[in-house]
Parts: sequence; C-alpha cells; structure tokens
Amino acid sequence: MQVRKAIFPVAGLGTRFLPATKAQPKEMLPVVDKPLIQYAVEEAYAAGMREMIFVTGRHKRPIEDHFDMTFELEVALEQAGKNDLLEVVRSVKPSDMECIYVRQAQALGLGHAVLCGQRLVGAEPFAVLLADDLMVADPPVLKQMVDQFAHWQASILAVQEVPAEQTRRYGIVAGTPVDERLVDVSRIVEKPAPEDAPSRLGVAGRYILTPGVFREILAQPRGVGGEIQLTDGISGLLRREKVFAYRYEGRRYDCGSKEGFLEANVELALAHPEVGTHFRNFLRSLEL
Ligand code: UTP
Repeated sequence: MQVRKAIFPVAGLGTRFLPATKAQPKEMLPVVDKPLIQYAVEEAYAAGMREMIFVTGRHKRPIEDHFDMTFELEVALEQAGKNDLLEVVRSVKPSDMECIYVRQAQALGLGHAVLCGQRLVGAEPFAVLLADDLMVADPPVLKQMVDQFAHWQASILAVQEVPAEQTRRYGIVAGTPVDERLVDVSRIVEKPAPEDAPSRLGVAGRYILTPGVFREILAQPRGVGGEIQLTDGISGLLRREKVFAYRYEGRRYDCGSKEGFLEANVELALAHPEVGTHFRNFLRSLEL
C-alpha cells in the first residue's frame, strides 16, 4: 500500500515560544522566509503525499489562509509584472494537493491530535509530521521513510541518537538492529529519565503509521503529563505488528525550542541563494 495522506498536528499551545505564539501557531513562525509548516508540507509532497490533514486548535486561521488562494495578492503581483513572486505565492499549494482541516477542541496530547485525523485517514497507512522539527535532508527524511515503508509495509519511526542527558525530551526506542539504519522495535518509552532509558535512540517528529495505531491510542490510559500520548499508542501497536525505527540521514532543527529555531535560521540563511552572501559577511563583521 502507498502512503498518500499526512497528518500535521498543529494544535499545541507552543508555550516555549510565548509571546510569539500568543495569537498564532508556532508552526507559522518563519525560518528565513517560509513558515515552519510549509517546510513540512513540502517534505510530505516530495514524499508523494497529496492529502494534507491539519489538526488545528484555537489559531487555525493563519494556517488555513496560508494554504488558501490569495486572490487580491495574486492580481496585484500579476499587474505589477512581479512574476517571480507570483510563482512563489502560487507554489505554496500545488493544484494536485488537497488541504483538509480538523479541529482538536482541547490540546489533550499528540496521540489525541492524531486520533482527530482518524475519520479522514480511514484504513490506510499515513504519515505524521511535526512541523516544529525542521528536517534538512536530500532525499527528504519522509521520502527516505516512504522507501522503507514500501519494502516493509510496517510502521516506521524516524530516530536519531540523542545525548544521554536529553532522553527526557523524547520517545526512546529499543530493539534489534536489522541493518545499520533500521531497528526492529521491541519497546518504546515516553520521555524517560536517563537511567530508565532503554537506549539513546530518540524519536524525531516524523512517523509512518499503520491505521491499527488508532485503536491502540484509544485503548491507552492517559500517559506522561496526563496527556494522550502517541508513544503509548505505538507501544500498544508493536505488541500486534512490526514497528521499525529508522535512523534518517539528514539534519534536524528542534524549532519548538528557541535555540533550535535560531540555529535553523542562521544555517538556512547562510545557504539561502538570495541573502546567503550578505548574511555571511554580516556574521563575519560581528567579530564574536
Ligand atoms: P509539543 O510537545 O512541542 O507541545 O507538541 P506544544 O504545546 O506545541 O509546545 P510547548 O511544549 O508548549 O512549547 C508536539 C507537536 O504536537 C502538536 C504540537 O502542535 C506540536 O507540533 N500537539 C501537541 C497537538 O497538535 N495537540 C496537542 O494536544 C499536543
């Protein structure tokens, strides 16, 4: 089976980024010139997904507007002969891509947010992308995972080695190595203390999941922090089905944290075709 649908949970409160996230979702924060959510949507599109399901919260308008047609803007750019910018605006939503919005009335946790997409996903495998994890990779991380899924037809979790003192920030997996990138998962624990962590393989914000996970999320009691955790649903799933962890090739920026967001801006600005050279000279002039 092919993965055609992607869920983007964008209903979190984004408390680590207040006040910037007081009246807009953190996924609309721009890295250089594009909002975080657009990087994630472009990654899903490049991996073959065409149905994008956004699980939104209180601030749904900016995301809906971003992926909607902006008629007046397009007319103004056309009249001004600004064809390059017109292309930039139009490419945000390719014509063969569908955007669907579903509301998570209360931020009850990532597992609950994913569950909100259940009716739209149906009985198909699907991807979950957390836009605050910005991935820079070629091929894109989700494309690497789709290729793994095509082979195994089982759930695939993106993982990376994390420092021992950071296990409390991640879902941590353990299992049997299949090859140098793939682990057959036997255990997954949400945000363990370093001494309880079964390994140092932390789950990053990219998942391909089989629809069986919905039933498992529903069956779990509230997890860490009183939230309905996706990790607990996956933990239930791996008792019934194979689940693999995949060490992706590429760089991840944790844009849910101020440090990661600033690092992403610096590195992507340096690589940006329009502003890169100027920005490099500016950084040099700071004489840090
Ligand atoms: P985080 O753990 O980063 O939480 O959620 P958060 O509320 O967004 O941010 P902080 O920690 O308060 O700063 C991980 C992802 O899951 C989504 C978030 O939008 C984010 O993409 N999420 C989380 C939901 O959509 N709903 C929830 O109930 C919880």
